[in-house]
Amino acid sequence: MQFRLDNLTRQFGSQKAVDSVSIEIPTGQMVGVIGRSGAGKSTLLRMINRLVDPTSGSIRFGDVEISTLRGAALRNWQRDCAMIFQQFNLVPRLDVLTNVLLGRLNHRSTALSMLNIFSREERLMAIAALERLGIEQTALQAAGTLSGGQQQRVAIARALMQSPKMVLADEPIASLDPLNAKIVMDALRDINEREGITVITNLHTLDTARNYCERIIGMARGRVVFDGAPSELTADAVHEIYGADRHGAGIDETMTSTSINIAHQDNDAARKIPSPGLRPLAAAEA
Ligand SMILES: Nc1ncnc2c1ncn2[C@@H]1O[C@H](COP(=O)(O)OP(=O)(O)OP(=O)(O)O)[C@@H](O)[C@H]1O
Ligand SMILES: [Mg+2]
Repeated sequence: MQFRLDNLTRQFGSQKAVDSVSIEIPTGQMVGVIGRSGAGKSTLLRMINRLVDPTSGSIRFGDVEISTLRGAALRNWQRDCAMIFQQFNLVPRLDVLTNVLLGRLNHRSTALSMLNIFSREERLMAIAALERLGIEQTALQAAGTLSGGQQQRVAIARALMQSPKMVLADEPIASLDPLNAKIVMDALRDINEREGITVITNLHTLDTARNYCERIIGMARGRVVFDGAPSELTADAVHEIYGADRHGAGIDETMTSTSINIAHQDNDAARKIPSPGLRPLAAAEA
């Protein structure tokens, strides 16, 4: 099923946060969206999920126009494209298992949902999702007591419970330390590879996008300024995406990367773990 944006635009006042973006994404791609702070990455993802309405343009999934969906059809779409946030968005006082089960809400009747009644199948599915992410031992713990990395894994388990067609992740590792960042990115890659689910993820660091994504979309000032494979991301392309800093100096990859090599990866020394979300470019801009 082809997913396609045509001239998608979102204006806030006189400013175009996303400006005439047209892209096609075939099912099963793992796409990284990069760009400096304010480039429009979050607005783009939020429009796809319809958390933000487009000012103009179209979002099509197969034959369905997403940008005008309302009511139940809109809720079904939001179930189909699960969203993962930097700040996890769990219900901290509820236990982990219940948080994961909440991913089923749009699959069930309102009455059952209100009563918080989940079937045995749903509970087994939730436990399987937790097992897959290696956090089944936390099932009965309040979600708010988990570490950031564990909470993001709970959020991914909840997303899996939605049986999504697409996973959208808005800087999923920006609040995590390098080890947890790697665990979370590996989990997203696993979902992409094993289930063939399209993953579109905003990332603050270039090295993470290079390591994990088969396709990189670079945004600047609301527009797509790069769209290609990691191998095509030349120094010129990086400069086009991130621009020069305010002192006129070019921004090289080291500034968009905080990689640390892990010692036990000695058979693959070139491979770096994903960076935590330092925001050097945002800082340069301030
Ligand atoms: N609700 C809003 N009201 C007004 N302006 C907004 C709103 N949301 C976003 N913007 C503006 O739109 C532009 C793009 O913002 P967006 O959050 O999409 O950028 P981003 O690439 O995700 O940045 P970051 O890397 O900091 O998360 C920014 O200039 C931002 O200030
Ligand atoms: Mg953002």
